[in-house]
Amino acid sequence: MLLPSILSTALSVLLFLSPTLTHAIALPASQPPVYEGTLSLIADTTGSKELTFSYSIVSSAKNNWVGIYPASGGGPVEEKYVSNSLVWKYIPDTTNGIVKLDVGSLANGEYIAFLLAKDGYKWLSKPVYVSLQNNNNGGNGNNVVGFLVETVTLKNGRQGDGYSAKIAGLVTPGYKPRFEKLSGDGWVSVSADGVISGVPDRTRDSTITIRATIPTTGQSSTLKAMIPVKRSGSSLVPDLKVMTFNLWWGGTYVNNYHAKQIKFIISTNVDIIGLQEAHGGHVQRLADALGWYFWQPKSGDLGIISRYPIVEDYGLANASGGVRISLDGTDQQVNFWNMHLGYDPYGPYDFCFDKMSVEKVLQREAQSGRTPQIVDTLKAMGPQIRQAWNIPVILVGDANAPSHLDWTEELRSKNCGYANIPWPTSTKPAEVGLIDSFRIANPNPVEVPGITWSPIYPFHNGGTGKVEPQDRIDFIYHTGSQLQVVESKSLVVGRPGVHGSHRDNEWTSDHAVVVTSYKL
Ligand SMILES: *[C@@H]1O[C@H](CO)[C@@H](O)[C@H](O)[C@H]1NC(C)=O
Repeated sequence: MLLPSILSTALSVLLFLSPTLTHAIALPASQPPVYEGTLSLIADTTGSKELTFSYSIVSSAKNNWVGIYPASGGGPVEEKYVSNSLVWKYIPDTTNGIVKLDVGSLANGEYIAFLLAKDGYKWLSKPVYVSLQNNNNGGNGNNVVGFLVETVTLKNGRQGDGYSAKIAGLVTPGYKPRFEKLSGDGWVSVSADGVISGVPDRTRDSTITIRATIPTTGQSSTLKAMIPVKRSGSSLVPDLKVMTFNLWWGGTYVNNYHAKQIKFIISTNVDIIGLQEAHGGHVQRLADALGWYFWQPKSGDLGIISRYPIVEDYGLANASGGVRISLDGTDQQVNFWNMHLGYDPYGPYDFCFDKMSVEKVLQREAQSGRTPQIVDTLKAMGPQIRQAWNIPVILVGDANAPSHLDWTEELRSKNCGYANIPWPTSTKPAEVGLIDSFRIANPNPVEVPGITWSPIYPFHNGGTGKVEPQDRIDFIYHTGSQLQVVESKSLVVGRPGVHGSHRDNEWTSDHAVVVTSYKL
């Protein structure tokens, strides 16, 4: 769902964090792009509201500079001027050193620092995320340094097989601490740059304690990481947990969204997430933080992040796209599709506000693009759906329309006097054999409505006092007899404040997510 008023403001905040993101690739999340220099945030100076960066470049100049921009946009994301920096400073005319920027004027929130060449906008390094958390709360410095979570469950390992997972991204953005293992099973080692590796020598889940220390300040924090270990010869991923998450313009409408999203995602212990409204670097941002693989298409707002390797890119269909994910070599794979269908006109408004006929609303479903989009998507998925006996298929996403399974006779009064509506975006998946995992797990829409739109709009955004129709418009579909639904939920965290007082919500989106747990 995307409200028109949000669209107009948000079009100006497109953000491309790195030129490499414009390729539809599935790289290990932290494969570094190549720049001639580096920029890193080494410390904050407690109380003085300064950020200290260290930099290195190949050739120095008097007018190389560091500029700080809101993470939500306005930075030179394609190496071109977009808007003025909030704070900037020339770096010294040396090939490496330190530069301190006064950020006392900045509000709490997420920023990006760019190291730029010669009064211009050519990048000299990868940009650095900066999260200002305590800036206006008593002047106690800028950042609480450390792990964003206390515990994390990592991807599965198997007795006798090599294991590797990354935890370096799970710290306050911008910081590059040194990691070390404090305790845990002997087979596990932790490198200084945060890679956990080894060969599990027994079938016992491993819990390790890891310390991250900022060398310059000595500040440290610890993380308990759990690695589920499967028996030699058994399947690596017997349980698969999948999420669909409309980020709401990356999450940027909510303060401190990065840390909140990472905490939430980790708390759910999911394996694969289909992201919508993720354009502008947010796919890679989340994947890098989690140490996961990612898929970011050239255009559109979709992304897929996964604990397990993304091994094939099927490209974009129509408002959708898909990948093949290898859970366990070629023994266990899943074809995973993600969609974000058109949002305007919106069917529940047509019924509830304008009392249109069913025929008219179905015409407008086509007009919105949703009907052709789901048709094209299912067509693109066709070969895989026919092979689902071999490799199961999952389709997740924001359909921007309810389901025929929820507009039933029993819910006629909730649905503004209408019932038995064959919403094409839910009937067409059903026609090709896709199963709505949420309604398998929760068959009664009266008892478990599973509303995903919207936790922050009880009232319509137009300021007219109208009640916003509440619907389940985000879905996780699947086919393939290997997938058995164990559980499916729609989720938010905290008690989201309504739109207008949403800035400090713990919940970073305007949708709820859906999480489905499968047995494989
Ligand atoms: C998506 O569907 C719409 C409506 O049929 C069509 O106009 C558009 O060209 C399609 N886009 C792609 C990329 O197939």
